[in-house]
Amino acid sequence: MSQPARGELLYEGKAKQVYATDDPSLVWIHYKDDATAFNGLKKASIAGKGEVNCRISTKLLELTAAGGVPTALVRALGPRDQLCLKVDIIPVEVVVRNRLAGSLARRLGQEEGLVLPRPVVEHFYKSDALNDPQINEDVAMAMGWARSWELAAMREYALTVNALLLEFWGGLNIDLVDFKLEFGRAGHTVLLADEITPDGSRLWERGTGRHLDKDVFRRDLGDLSLVYQELVTKVFADTPAA
Ligand SMILES: Nc1ncnc2c1ncn2[C@@H]1O[C@H](COP(=O)(O)OP(=O)(O)O)[C@@H](O)[C@H]1O
Ligand SMILES: [Mg+2]
Repeated sequence: MSQPARGELLYEGKAKQVYATDDPSLVWIHYKDDATAFNGLKKASIAGKGEVNCRISTKLLELTAAGGVPTALVRALGPRDQLCLKVDIIPVEVVVRNRLAGSLARRLGQEEGLVLPRPVVEHFYKSDALNDPQINEDVAMAMGWARSWELAAMREYALTVNALLLEFWGGLNIDLVDFKLEFGRAGHTVLLADEITPDGSRLWERGTGRHLDKDVFRRDLGDLSLVYQELVTKVFADTPAA
């Protein structure tokens, strides 16, 4: 497979850069070491974070695609670079929760940790300016952000991804507490896009409840760089070195 040529920087977000390529239907995504929390209020550079996120995201998007959910990932271009289909990102973030934590625990005035008897799907409007407020499917449709069939596909895909990830992380003795997904449009289809990373997930070590995710940075629980190295070692333990 020929290496695409990296073109102009189209967009720089908090964690990644998106570049054009010589094919207008494809983008080159580069994962940075930058960490932000609380919508950019807290910032740091975490050595190796971009590589850990990119390698894990590539693996989990491949697993997801193999499980029947179409994704924007074409292939990895290196340890912190991916080639992806260029999509129009739908500005509705989908969160799936298996245990009570984070903003839902706060909203309900409850301790974190309760195991939910069935997964909970939540929607948030992707807007840095508004701090990603929670919405529901009716709001997304009324505002013209997504159509009914797109929201139905997003929900079904998100729940399928959840089942696949519960099995994957469970096999590593890690509890998948919750995670966030973004979807995009390419032609007439909805694809899972962006990333599946420990930045956008809550991962608790089974038994101890130790955080193996970005909460280590948000809550000053330790050295995120070391925790992410530990995580990537677990994820690729069975993979022979390239
Ligand atoms: N395949 C894709 N095509 C187009 N845009 C994408 C694709 N994958 C991700 N993006 C967008 O790239 C941007 C950069 O990522 P990131 O740094 O995570 O941004 P953010 O600060 O919004 O979280 C995000 O807005 C994301 O929605
Ligand atoms: Mg992001």
